[in-house]
Amino acid sequence: MSSNVASVASTAASIVADETAQQAARRRTFAIISHPDAGKTTLTEKFLLCGGALSAGAGSVKAKGDRRATTSDWTELERRRGISVTSAVVQFSYRERVLNLLDTPGHGDFSEDTYRVLSAVDAAVMVLDGAKGIEAQTRKLFEVCRNREIPIMTFINKWDRPARDPLELLDEIEDLLVLDPAPVTWPVGDGTRFSGVIDRRSGDFVRFERTAGGATAGDIEVVAAEQAAATEGSCWHEAREAVELLDEAGTELDLKRFEAGELTPVFFGSALTNFGVQLLLDAIVEMAPAPSARLDINDNPRSVESGFSAVVFKVQSNTDPAHRDRIAFLRVCSGRFERGMTITCARTQKTLATKYAHTVVGRDRSTADDAWAGDVIGLVNAADLRVGDALHAVGEPVRWPEVPAFAPSSFRLAYCNDTSKAKQFRSGVRQLDAEGVVQVLRRPEGGESSPILAAVGPLQFDVAEHRLRHEFGAPVEMTPAPWTIARLTDQASAAALSAMSGVTVAARDDGELLALFESPYWLARLQSDNPALVLDRLIGEG
Ligand code: G4P
Repeated sequence: MSSNVASVASTAASIVADETAQQAARRRTFAIISHPDAGKTTLTEKFLLCGGALSAGAGSVKAKGDRRATTSDWTELERRRGISVTSAVVQFSYRERVLNLLDTPGHGDFSEDTYRVLSAVDAAVMVLDGAKGIEAQTRKLFEVCRNREIPIMTFINKWDRPARDPLELLDEIEDLLVLDPAPVTWPVGDGTRFSGVIDRRSGDFVRFERTAGGATAGDIEVVAAEQAAATEGSCWHEAREAVELLDEAGTELDLKRFEAGELTPVFFGSALTNFGVQLLLDAIVEMAPAPSARLDINDNPRSVESGFSAVVFKVQSNTDPAHRDRIAFLRVCSGRFERGMTITCARTQKTLATKYAHTVVGRDRSTADDAWAGDVIGLVNAADLRVGDALHAVGEPVRWPEVPAFAPSSFRLAYCNDTSKAKQFRSGVRQLDAEGVVQVLRRPEGGESSPILAAVGPLQFDVAEHRLRHEFGAPVEMTPAPWTIARLTDQASAAALSAMSGVTVAARDDGELLALFESPYWLARLQSDNPALVLDRLIGEG
């Protein structure tokens, strides 16, 4: 009898594991990185269009002055400055797969935020403007990808406009990013003569149909090479010659090298006119890795079939102006999430009810009833959660490696200039710290009333100031601070450093101690005079 029960239980467990593995295999979770204006938002819209998640009329959702529908431009600040500060997620299905597209900020000042988002994806698409190539922010964000060892696909966009020589663009990827480009498609013509691409895998010509503003899913016609040679004229022959050169140069697609982050498959197209977007999406489905085992804090892989576990990669307040709320975004790493289940936060050992789990698409929310490895869910009002937290089903403990804080290089001293608002100021600063909007450092003499705000880039201060003022009602004064470089230190070295001139020691909320220096030269000098001091580099130091 008991052996029967055991065998039924083990069969049931293996059915669950099979379903979990199958569901994970259907997922592709990725992000887009690009310099502002390269076309990330337009490409996102066209992905949704291809996936049937937007109607054709919505192809123009991002009409001038109204970037609301698919961008994560949730706050007034983002709209006013035309930058995307927050990170959102959209989920859509395509060819029997479930795609989770996580948004990343386009500006390198938010590269720490990008890094956290990239902790939750399995691949990234790098969008380049065909007329500009690699731009400053592309490079910064790419470095973040490299730090996280994420496989990257490249989409060279805006080919409907005059563009640079495609071979030159490939050289730039190779030289500036030290990444081998492997063109999967090759453009036939550019600007108004851009008519399609050669698919190097088959040699066929993929012809695009022009539709008004690319507002439909975009018809494509596959034409054999011989036929294209007869109909496409000089553009075809030029493109063929370039492809022969590429073949000779050995720029073949090697999926292992792609997964190792050494090689990038390259696609050409135009997001605006919806040329080449579907080919890119097909490649994401076919080439980008599905969710797989994640290493825990002890480097042990936790398979996707294990019990439910997730990582918090983003915490965000007031995403919905109508409700004051706080959403923790989780990426499911293993198992199945079911709304209503009780889960544990590994750091606090507190349990959380998950009645208010949502999938969030821009501003729209719908209830998430279940989710699998690779999916993202938003937990509303999960007040205690912090970026990097591990969550797991009761009895299935796991801890993830810490998400490291980036090296700050800009600093401000913050004060509340209205003493009656001191409480709001303190709680606002704590909130921004928990969300990772800025890093908050405290000196023994400054305490809660004048913390040091530390950032990777100064735009983070604009966001912090705006949010303190408008969300928390705390008017804030920020004065420039003299430091330019920070190092991690320990208690013993902190005591020694505090007695030295030209260095300030401050503590983060997580207990880490940072030594702040006005110049790298002074840091180097102190280090050479006191080699025993612990002064560790932080990630992302430029
Ligand atoms: P971003 O999210 O990376 O910042 O870029 P976004 O998609 O907002 O695109 C920036 C500008 O580039 C937009 O024009 C957009 O229409 C245009 N664009 C994007 N992809 C293409 C493309 O493939 N071809 C061409 N020709 N243009 C493209 P805008 O005038 O700034 O805004 P809007 O009036 O179109 O909203």
